[in-house]
Amino acid sequence: MKFDTPATRNPIDQMKVVGRAHDRIDGPLKTTGTAPYAYEWHDEIPGAAYGYVVGSAIAKGRITAMDLHEAETAPGVLAIVTADNAGKLGKGDMNAATLLGGPAIEHYHQAIAVVVAETFEQARAAASLIHVKYLREPGAFSLAAQKPAVTTPPEDTPDKTAGDFTTAFAASAVQHDATYTTPDQSHMAMEPHTSLAVWEGDKLILRTSNQMIAWCRSELAKTLNIPEEKVRVISPYIGGGFGGKLFLRSDAVLAALAARAANRPVKVMLPRPLIPNNTTHRPATIQHIRIGTDEKGRITAIAHESWSGNLPGGTPETAVQQSELLYAGKNRLTGLRLAQLDLPEGNAMRAPGEAPGLMALEIAIDEVAEKAGVDPVEFRILNDTQVDPLNTGRFFSRRQLIECLRTGAEKFGWHRRNATPAQVRDGRWLMGIGVAAGFRNNLLEKSGARVHLDAQGVVTVETDMTDIGTGSYTIIAQTAAEMLGVPLEKVVVRLGDSDFPVSAGSGGQWGANTSTAGVYAACVKLREAIAEKLGFDADSAVFTDELICQGDRTASLAQAAASGTITVEDTIEFVGLDKTFQQSTFAAHFVEVGVDIATGETRVRRMLAVCAAGRILNPKTARSQVIGAMTMGIGAALTEELNVDTTLGYFVNHDLAAYEVPVHADIPDQEVIFLDDTDPVSSPMKAKGVGELGLCGVSAAIANAIYNATGVRVRDYPVTLDKLIGGLPELG
Ligand code: MOS
Repeated sequence: MKFDTPATRNPIDQMKVVGRAHDRIDGPLKTTGTAPYAYEWHDEIPGAAYGYVVGSAIAKGRITAMDLHEAETAPGVLAIVTADNAGKLGKGDMNAATLLGGPAIEHYHQAIAVVVAETFEQARAAASLIHVKYLREPGAFSLAAQKPAVTTPPEDTPDKTAGDFTTAFAASAVQHDATYTTPDQSHMAMEPHTSLAVWEGDKLILRTSNQMIAWCRSELAKTLNIPEEKVRVISPYIGGGFGGKLFLRSDAVLAALAARAANRPVKVMLPRPLIPNNTTHRPATIQHIRIGTDEKGRITAIAHESWSGNLPGGTPETAVQQSELLYAGKNRLTGLRLAQLDLPEGNAMRAPGEAPGLMALEIAIDEVAEKAGVDPVEFRILNDTQVDPLNTGRFFSRRQLIECLRTGAEKFGWHRRNATPAQVRDGRWLMGIGVAAGFRNNLLEKSGARVHLDAQGVVTVETDMTDIGTGSYTIIAQTAAEMLGVPLEKVVVRLGDSDFPVSAGSGGQWGANTSTAGVYAACVKLREAIAEKLGFDADSAVFTDELICQGDRTASLAQAAASGTITVEDTIEFVGLDKTFQQSTFAAHFVEVGVDIATGETRVRRMLAVCAAGRILNPKTARSQVIGAMTMGIGAALTEELNVDTTLGYFVNHDLAAYEVPVHADIPDQEVIFLDDTDPVSSPMKAKGVGELGLCGVSAAIANAIYNATGVRVRDYPVTLDKLIGGLPELG
């Protein structure tokens, strides 16, 4: 099915099943520990050996010698794979560095060997007996040090301009010019990167933890120099991804090579301390923002430039994306600058681009609003735009930022905020309230599904879509149930297998809208097949209560499959509407904090997100996505930071003891409101993405609340107490 004109009325609009707060259908499997994660196919694949990954001890240079002898003769060892004995490997298109390094080393903890043994402990012990000699080469490890030399955009991402920024900024009544920094961050998904490889002859079956089945399959085939048809990827349950599992990673490649070398099923899990340096991370940014307004606070000039670093072949963090679209202003400049660094690869992490971009932009907006003497909620409303500011003939499909801000201000009690900082006390706590806009583009990826109807009237959906903890199983079941007029219990959903049709996968908050749209397309075909079989007209027939009805005729769905299961397949393809309309999602985030006047410790007390993100397919799973994202925003604002050793070139705090993510005790009262935002331009589901939107803007709202509480403006994340304490008011 091609989706090239806005959706009209369709069976999803009935909202009998879709749009309801159903519990997750995979919940019982997860709460009883019976959902098989990649490391846990004990019954299906008994007797798997264990692979332990060895990471490079240097960031850049060469391996000059590698002595495996002692390790090879250690107890239980079955095989050791290195670049030396792995055979010629290809390289996928989506990795900057190779996934099995050596002799050249491109980053710290790049995998250089996998040791296979009967037990995990034997593999780990033997790994420590590999003796490696390195020749260390100098590398570039500091973004700040590289920044001055990087003044032009990368070739494929030129600056975007309108009007004449420089002149307009110089002439503006109110000017704000400041630089903001965000640190490197690690995804830290609960489930580590894990793969279990089995060779059946020349065919590889890989059970893994990956967001994008088709990407994983093609990249793995490329790496192993085998045809794609010889690779099957299975990933039905995933313990979090956040972008860290969008791509093929070393666990998958090394499990495949290890299983081949040991002639046994092998499973490889990256130990937590290997993950931050071996896998990808969200790159640090330095963001220079200049905003000029007239006397009334209307933006006349806005510029946002962002510096980030990456390995050769890597891409920049697109932190200026939202600044192209969020606010009006005739004179504009946005641009990316990319420094070459020899740190591990930077890549997508939840809401890549907008998440770190809004961390900077939405503090800058708070600052310029104050300078212009305009309330920060009103400032954002004043500078709203209903068209793409770089292409004013192009409208947003739906844009309810103003409604988000007004609704949130009212619900949160914004009018009670004291606009003068450091005025409100609750005992030892300095109290403050902050706001930020949330923005994330709505991405569309084609998505396929296969549906079956059997003689019992059971509808089975198969697609390689993944559920990374998001609720895909449930919303896909809801979609099929709505389309066929059957109860949720009559729908079986099978996900995460490359034997199923290629879906959109889970990434970029496109998963919910586009994967269900693919299921919608397949279900339209199934309705046609059923109608034809039973002599009904597919367009006018009604599917309800497990029946197909037309006029005074009815028949049971099961009857259509009495002589054999009906199977159909389709793929939704999005053509052109994203060119005609700008499709984005919007939010307003409100936060209340208390900052300890003596220690500078920040505690978030209340949070509210008001989201306009298309039709909400399941308010319960959507709310869970948003509160999870808000929690991530607390981490980004207050604690999360990979500390770079700029001499040796690696992330020092590489475990959950030192890379601090929020725990339950850090999380306050969180409230989420979804505005009615049914958007026929986005898909037949009229839905959009919401998971990443929940993060976008949160950290800035916290930083702004801290400023309101203390009068200290911190432009360097995370906002830790050492950055506050010197500016806090006198004790008293
Ligand atoms: Mo997301 S960072 O595209 O998984």
